[in-house]
Amino acid sequence: MSHAEDHEGTRRDFLYYATAGAGAVTAGAAIWPLVNQMNPSADVLAQASIPVDVSTIEPGTQLTVLWQGKPVFIRRRTEEEITAAREVSMDELPDPIARNANGEDAAPATDENRALDEAGEWLVQMGVCTHLGCVPLGDAGDFGGWFCPCHGSHYDTSGRIRRGPAPENLPVPTSAFVDETTIQLG
Ligand code: FES
Repeated sequence: MSHAEDHEGTRRDFLYYATAGAGAVTAGAAIWPLVNQMNPSADVLAQASIPVDVSTIEPGTQLTVLWQGKPVFIRRRTEEEITAAREVSMDELPDPIARNANGEDAAPATDENRALDEAGEWLVQMGVCTHLGCVPLGDAGDFGGWFCPCHGSHYDTSGRIRRGPAPENLPVPTSAFVDETTIQLG
């Protein structure tokens, strides 16, 4: 086994155990409170922050991961999606705030303020509709982004609400590239 393969295996194993650990905490919390109290650090870390391998995500597709009990969409956008998102003028946006945990609280909802990288190839956002919490569908809706079928909310290719009852853009969680192919959530 080459060094690279070995590294890959280690990372996958880590993801698996981090996920399993988080599940075990939920299932066992009521039964083993003392054990949790005595060993909080690993459990808390597993839930607070997870690495996600994004090396297999092709442009125009997204990966959905579960983080802190909620879906997170990690999308690698095409040039067309980025252009569409960046051509929108601010007065077309029902919610003018970027809603990005990595930026200023009141930053305007430009695509540049929501994308993870400067070129805008990567968009990371919570997969939870800001109306009543359904999980929106990708590659759907009238604006080429996401569509929430519960009550008809349309989000654009930047995850900004454009039409329907949802009041806010899909929130961008704390996230960053920690190496070329790994995004850390939290
Ligand atoms: S929960 Fe998404 S539109 Fe109501």
